[in-house]
Amino acid sequence: MTSLDSNAEPAGVGALLTRRSVSPKRLGWPAPSDAQLALVIHAGLRAPDHAGLTPWRVIHIPMARRDDLAQLFVLEKQRRNPLASAEEIARAREHATRAPTLLAFIVRVHADALVPAHEQWLAAGAALGNMLNAFHALGFGAIVLSGDRCADNRLATALDVSDEERLAGFISAGTVLQLPPAAPSKPVDRVWSTWRA
Ligand SMILES: Cc1cc2nc3c(=O)[nH]c(=O)nc-3n(C[C@H](O)[C@H](O)[C@H](O)COP(=O)(O)O)c2cc1C
Repeated sequence: MTSLDSNAEPAGVGALLTRRSVSPKRLGWPAPSDAQLALVIHAGLRAPDHAGLTPWRVIHIPMARRDDLAQLFVLEKQRRNPLASAEEIARAREHATRAPTLLAFIVRVHADALVPAHEQWLAAGAALGNMLNAFHALGFGAIVLSGDRCADNRLATALDVSDEERLAGFISAGTVLQLPPAAPSKPVDRVWSTWRA
């Protein structure tokens, strides 16, 4: 299989080839502006989406609401582990408060649609990918993290996630203060073959 040709002109693909997830610990201020956030959401809306169902949405959690979210994260942690240490509680709080921009990513599979559920999940994932790439193309770092808390019904309900929806993860974004370690290279032939009948 063809490996990446270093002489190839990446043109508009360049940002796609260099995106890395950046952990919240490496993110800082300034946060993306409202206008930049709007661009990111529009990039999500441009993802391929069978029958235009838009089986996803995001909830922006502004800085003014982070203490409320931290309280929900702490309660969820204590439900999951009543013996959670002070350090673990502090970490749960930090997951809500650290990132300059925080979006909850919600997937809603339309059960009555002709489009099968797996295609709707693919469409939601494509939107998620577009948004992460858009943050990167704008010069910001971002990462999506789920963790056990995303399976907690009480947390989901407190975030107004309905029974027909799934809290799939949280997108953190901000200015990259410290670059993540170099990405391990992935062999292209793991995903690319040519059919020979
Ligand atoms: C929906 C989703 C949820 C994820 N949740 C977690 C998580 O809870 N913890 C984690 O360490 N990585 C999680 N990841 C993986 C990271 O976001 C990231 O993709 C991974 O660390 C690889 O880094 P890279 O994107 O730079 O290749 C998740 C990825 C996706 C798509």
